[in-house]
Amino acid sequence: MLKWYDQQVIYQIYPKSFQDTNQDGIGDLRGVIQRIPYLKQLGVTTIWLNPIYVSPQVDNGYDVSNYYAIDQSLGTMADVEALIAALHANGMFLLLDFVMNHTSDQHPWFQDAVAHPQGLYRDYYLWADAPAKQLPNNWGSFFGGSVWEPDPGATDQYYFHLFDRHMPDLNWKNPEVRHSMLEIAKFWVDKGIDGLRLDAFIHIDKADFHQNVPNQSTEPTIAEEFYAHLPHVQPYLSKFCGALRELKPDIFILGEAASASPELLIDYSRPENNQCNAVITFRSLVDREDQLDPQLPAEFQPKGLDVEGMKRQLTTIQTKLAGVSLPVLYWSNHDMARVATRYASPQYHQRSLKCLATMLYLQRGIPIIYYGEELGLENLQFSDLTSFNDWTVQPFYDRALAVGYSSAEALAMLNQTHKMAARGPMQWDAKQPNTGFSPATPWLHGTTKIADVASEQADSQSLLHFYQRLLRLKQTALFTQGNEIIQATPAGIFRFTRQLDQTAATVTCNLSNQPVTVMTDTTTEVQLLEGSVSHSGQQTTYQPWTLTVTQN
Ligand code: GLC
Ligand code: CA
Repeated sequence: MLKWYDQQVIYQIYPKSFQDTNQDGIGDLRGVIQRIPYLKQLGVTTIWLNPIYVSPQVDNGYDVSNYYAIDQSLGTMADVEALIAALHANGMFLLLDFVMNHTSDQHPWFQDAVAHPQGLYRDYYLWADAPAKQLPNNWGSFFGGSVWEPDPGATDQYYFHLFDRHMPDLNWKNPEVRHSMLEIAKFWVDKGIDGLRLDAFIHIDKADFHQNVPNQSTEPTIAEEFYAHLPHVQPYLSKFCGALRELKPDIFILGEAASASPELLIDYSRPENNQCNAVITFRSLVDREDQLDPQLPAEFQPKGLDVEGMKRQLTTIQTKLAGVSLPVLYWSNHDMARVATRYASPQYHQRSLKCLATMLYLQRGIPIIYYGEELGLENLQFSDLTSFNDWTVQPFYDRALAVGYSSAEALAMLNQTHKMAARGPMQWDAKQPNTGFSPATPWLHGTTKIADVASEQADSQSLLHFYQRLLRLKQTALFTQGNEIIQATPAGIFRFTRQLDQTAATVTCNLSNQPVTVMTDTTTEVQLLEGSVSHSGQQTTYQPWTLTVTQN
């Protein structure tokens, strides 16, 4: 049976950067309320907010110190209640980010755990003894360095943190932790939210700490085999999600599983498993790796889209999830560069963004639009390394200079690839200070090309107008419910058909800078065309970054 969330277009809002209403340079919940008419006109039906709970903001809200209150920089509990009411009054839905793998080190649980090593809360976190001041093992943190940090309470123990050292991991083996996290989620469901995005849930089970990554290096090493997708993740998740579904049977649970393979997507989203309804994997985006400089780490080098690789990967995902769950379709989020910076063709900038959106969002699945993407917003350009708020950029930069890059080139690589550069202010109106985001200096400051709502609304050929048309088409039954077949096509061309009962559509996109010729498709009524095509016999030539959507 079709559920409300099977027909959604989700819009991801980084609340600090969307709309400031009290002139402090930080976006807020009132700003989101104010922009509901804009979102509605865009064709968005559900909003996912990055974390809004009380936080020291070491990781922009993913370090939570109180789950039961709103960070004062973003607003109040009354503001969230008003937001929920306003969205519902407009037939829209709200998803909150749920940070379940770790808390802030300022959370009272951690403070108590440190102050009272024999106390109840010690076992809320993960500790290991480290004889002779050695790290307990060589596992690496996603934010650089070791996952281990000495107990601030000066025992001989270390605590475990997969992300920043100010974000200690919770011990999900402890039933009290599982209970406490469930209570928090229930509190928010009772408030009237429609669903949750489960942050980093794949890490809530860890292996025995007494084992090392077998390698020669003395440096801490990313060790997903010891802390991602371990056997207890699914049982913990089923219990958690099951209990929430008892409270709210139609809750939408969107899991974030950055490293999930297509096989794991099935496990985490198969309805019988009572876990997530849909799962975000970072593996659905496939980068070109063939032009990397081997002298530099890959992470901060611009890469470009591997069209053929992505065709293969999406074919696998679509095939495996057919009849199981809806794939999640997205081009960017707050953890990666913006699509306009990462994958757009410099030569055919706007048309390439139209093609990329069409190729992905008309597929079977739930689109998530990252705020500003509909305008073609690009990464911010920072002029200094401190703006990245990430100590790992310095070693990259030093290395780049050492192997012969100029400082401008090294900085440009970081600006093109770094997640922080993707979190810039929304651009509402170029005629206003800070493009209408705030009269005050924005919390995150950098320069970027203008791509603002006001000008794009005035231009019927704009990307914004195209997104409006595309999202309306997406919400027709054929594109939400139809089955999908991705066709074998020449390199650069992405073509698939959607079919529902007697209706069918073919989507064809040339994702390359060259003209490509393909067999003419049999559906004829043109729904969307950008760029230009020419026919000859049974063949059609698509000019660079041209797209068609045809329907019978
Ligand atoms: C997720 C978030 C990311 C955050 C991390 C730790 O991956 O998307 O932004 O830093 O979890 O909470
Ligand atoms: Ca504000």
